[in-house]
Amino acid sequence: MTETFDVKLDEKLYIPDPRIKESAWTPDYTAAYREFLQDPEGFWEKAARELEWFRPWEHVLEWEYPYARWFTGARLNITYNCLDRHVRGERRDKPAIIWRGEAGEERILTYEQLSAGVMRLANGLKSLGIEKGDRVCIYMPLVPEQIIAMLACARIGAVHSVVFGGFGAGALHMRIQDAEARAVITADVGYRRGKTIPLKAIVDEATKDTQSVERIVVLRRADPPAELRPDREVDLAELMANAAPECPPEVMDAEDPLFILYTSGSTGAPKGIVHTCGGYMVGTYYTTRHVFDIKDEDIFWCTADTGWITGHSYIVYGPLATGATVVIREGTPDYPDPGAFWKIVQDLGVTIFYTAPTAIRMFMKYGEEWPDRYDLSSLRILGSVGEPLNPETFEWYYRVIGKERCPIVDTWWQTETGMHMITTMIGEPMRPGFAGKPIPGVVADVVDKDGNPVPPGTGGFLVIKEPWPAMLRTVYKNDERYCRYWNTIPGCYTAGDLAVKSEDGYIMVLGRADDLIVVAGHNIGTAEVESALVSHDAVAEAAVIGKPDPLKGNIIKAFVILRVGENPNDGLTAELARHVRKNLGPIAVPAEIAYVDRLPKTRSGKIMRRVLKAQELGMDPGDISTLEE
Ligand code: PRX
Repeated sequence: MTETFDVKLDEKLYIPDPRIKESAWTPDYTAAYREFLQDPEGFWEKAARELEWFRPWEHVLEWEYPYARWFTGARLNITYNCLDRHVRGERRDKPAIIWRGEAGEERILTYEQLSAGVMRLANGLKSLGIEKGDRVCIYMPLVPEQIIAMLACARIGAVHSVVFGGFGAGALHMRIQDAEARAVITADVGYRRGKTIPLKAIVDEATKDTQSVERIVVLRRADPPAELRPDREVDLAELMANAAPECPPEVMDAEDPLFILYTSGSTGAPKGIVHTCGGYMVGTYYTTRHVFDIKDEDIFWCTADTGWITGHSYIVYGPLATGATVVIREGTPDYPDPGAFWKIVQDLGVTIFYTAPTAIRMFMKYGEEWPDRYDLSSLRILGSVGEPLNPETFEWYYRVIGKERCPIVDTWWQTETGMHMITTMIGEPMRPGFAGKPIPGVVADVVDKDGNPVPPGTGGFLVIKEPWPAMLRTVYKNDERYCRYWNTIPGCYTAGDLAVKSEDGYIMVLGRADDLIVVAGHNIGTAEVESALVSHDAVAEAAVIGKPDPLKGNIIKAFVILRVGENPNDGLTAELARHVRKNLGPIAVPAEIAYVDRLPKTRSGKIMRRVLKAQELGMDPGDISTLEE
């Protein structure tokens, strides 16, 4: 998109019960935002002071466009704030993590137990030679050990790179290679829909020819447990059992990297988004506390996998920094039946529930009778993330799950932003379809391609105008790509999303401006799927587009040119799907594959996906002056 466009806006407003504001951490959004604008650095400094630092900062922010450094000179360890701070005080025996398996199994780890596990694994990693700054890849199911592994890395200053357990060997391989991970922490199996996912076998394939990987640490859960190769593979439980129990936190500089998380790019390989220790801690802590309004008695459930940024920020670092009780669950939301989630809400008394629109739409499909069977009265706040929460879904969520009592925080943010950026703070009037306004601490706007704000009702680019503490610092080994976020539109961070504002400043996010497809809340780069398809012997060329889907938001449709001598047939279609699944994982598999003779391309040879998309959806393809034929 190069120009702005008009959008028709719905004026519907939901006014929440005024009592919600009375006890909120942010009782008055407008006042809090004003306070932030008056003294932005003072605002973030105040949040930072609620946490513990080994040495204070010299400056809150040093901003040399496009590079920001936050809390410069300060020393800290994020795990000290997520663990020690609580273990030393009243939260020692408070449940930190409540894990549920698909079959209803339960494990509870108190803050003390979590801390003990983290310290043992941290020492275990040290005994394998892992040091500060080394990259460690974590490829695990959603079990407490996944969180322990992340925190153990952070404890010793190793940089974790968590890869979602649903990715295939190709995607895992690429991420291990790019990060040059010295160790991989995995499990022999994961469980999903009653089936076993052979994670260790995928790691074996992904690490066949990786130079950097010296050790593979395996959580063994299968019966009988997986065989290990003694020269390079280590049993996680044994490693922890043999390690010393105390592990003092590594003293980290605020700007030292905390983790790398790969996110799909519109062109080429996925980008390793780099987050640092200090600013990320402050940003996730502040937003967990203020957006979710988390209190000590809350039972907080974010249904994401820890392998995504949502899990990093709002299962692990933000909630644990606030001392919350966090629920995690392995498996799919509709297994063993579509009431599985609501049973957990009832059993555990979940008070804050954070999920994705695609999951809500799936529940809508199954019908109200499933949630209606359970007592959901413990719920107090509902959240949404990952894609636009369309008005129909908002209303169902509000009425059927929240019983018209619970505010919904539709949080807009990204892997790159690290923390919530735009939402409707609890107690404020809610506009279905609109995420809301920039949170206190964030300056966001909708602008044209030159950076000029567009009037209400006109669509444009969503941008962030000032640095924020949890922002990405660079793209791993690709700083040029980092700079592009800041120089696409002069003076702004460009999110890559299209948006529109209402008269009263609410922002509606319309979707991606570039070639990313959001399938069931997961970001998938067209380029990644195309390159997986093309890696099959039968395929000469491929182009993929996102096609709107009522359930998943989008599905992937692939247009494939076969090599000469190959003939399209159902067998080949199934085979290509298998091939993509193996390479990238099930979420990236095209739901539709069409065989074509030609693809629309620019003269420079770039595939014009928007032309394909327009054709597919029967729309006007827009400017096709650069089209080759
Ligand atoms: O397009 C926006 C969409 O998800 C993108 C970021 O994806 P990712 O880095 O994977 O992080 C997802 C979890 C934070 C955004 O550029 N997105 C995320 N949240 C929303 C959203 N779109 C609309 N409304 C949201 N609340």
